[in-house]
Amino acid sequence: MEISNIVISMKGTAVNIPSLRGKNILIGVTAGIAAYKIPHLVRLLVKEQASVKVIMTPDAEAFVTPLTLSVLSKHPVYTTFESEDHQWHSHVALAQWADVLVIAPATANTLSKMAHGGCDNLLLATYLSAKCPVFFAPAMDLDMYAHPSTRANIAQLESYGNHLIPSDYGELASGLVGEGRMAEPEAIVAQLASYFFPKKALLEGKKVLITAGPTYEMLDPVRFIGNFSSGKMGVALANMAALMGAEVTLVLGPTAPHAIVQGVKVHSVVSAQQMYEVTTEAFAHTDIAILAAAVADYKPQAQAPQKIKKKTDSLTLELAKTQDILASLGAQKQQQLLIGFALETENELEHAKGKLTRKHLDAIVLNSLNDPGAGFSVDTNQVTFITRGGRQEAIALKSKREIAEDILTLIHDEFL
Ligand code: CTP
Repeated sequence: MEISNIVISMKGTAVNIPSLRGKNILIGVTAGIAAYKIPHLVRLLVKEQASVKVIMTPDAEAFVTPLTLSVLSKHPVYTTFESEDHQWHSHVALAQWADVLVIAPATANTLSKMAHGGCDNLLLATYLSAKCPVFFAPAMDLDMYAHPSTRANIAQLESYGNHLIPSDYGELASGLVGEGRMAEPEAIVAQLASYFFPKKALLEGKKVLITAGPTYEMLDPVRFIGNFSSGKMGVALANMAALMGAEVTLVLGPTAPHAIVQGVKVHSVVSAQQMYEVTTEAFAHTDIAILAAAVADYKPQAQAPQKIKKKTDSLTLELAKTQDILASLGAQKQQQLLIGFALETENELEHAKGKLTRKHLDAIVLNSLNDPGAGFSVDTNQVTFITRGGRQEAIALKSKREIAEDILTLIHDEFL
């Protein structure tokens, strides 16, 4: 039976780094159909507890109303230099207010003007005045996006230090399919959050290998022996390691879909044997391996080629041990850092320390199923991080994202 993971690969929708809290985010909306996604972008940013103000080019009002954006951002929306009651909308004051300016959608016309100093509306004047980081998310039809003049304008804008939020491939408003769709609002938020994430370079240059999820050991073509692991902890580690700048390989057993940070290399596997093979192969080129998967310890001695029929009153299964991936890597490790997980239900510390020594680990993360809020499927965890040198750090109950951040920070501080 083929079981494969459906991996949603997007820039960190589930990652939710709280680095946008309190930031002043100025959004510049230009006249592209993707402007219909900006109310959603504003809502996501407000949810992250950022302060959001919006400037629109006059033509953008044809695509989304200033009222919608004003209600969602909780601020007036600026389209002209002068309000109806003759107040000046100062481009200088708006630029000074912003911690970041995000131009989304950025049409070919606006890109061209930005690249060449054009300044015929409030948004462009604000862009020219801005000293804060500027991000731009192009949105246009595929041939416009591919045109040499657009490419040159994008390159020019990047050479000025502006940050490109790359367009996606997909169906366009014209009905054509290609590159040019504005990045999804979630991806824009994730790129901004990563930019402001204080630990974004903590694991730069490091190759990190992570195993996650359960394994399924097939009995016959339709049945398997498995476990309740959701893969959430391992995926949180993979996403966080990528946000910290590492090159990440994730070997993932069969789970429900996860949002996985773009750039993480995902190998979907089913059985312990497949996980063993892929992980062993990757280990040679790894700096840090963290084995968080709930690997089956036993598999059926033989897999029945056809569905097992209900012929007898009882059925005895003969099981054979699987490869212990962690122990095998421990036996062959050279310069790599090797971190294991231990899931225990009794004598937790003693058992975890035993595994740390027996499997030649540098550290082990102890999960106790006795702790409320810890373990399978839930979004929180409570762990103890134990090093080979005897350091023991209890990490209080928090989200798996935060636990992942703490574990990777401890690994960095202790060993790198
Ligand atoms: N592990 C592994 N390969 C296996 C079994 C376990 O790589 N075949 C890894 C897990 O990913 C985890 C660690 O070993 O990092 C400990 O797993 P755990 O199930 O707690 O312990 P076991 O070694 O299987 O021992 P036991 O089941 O007896 O507690």
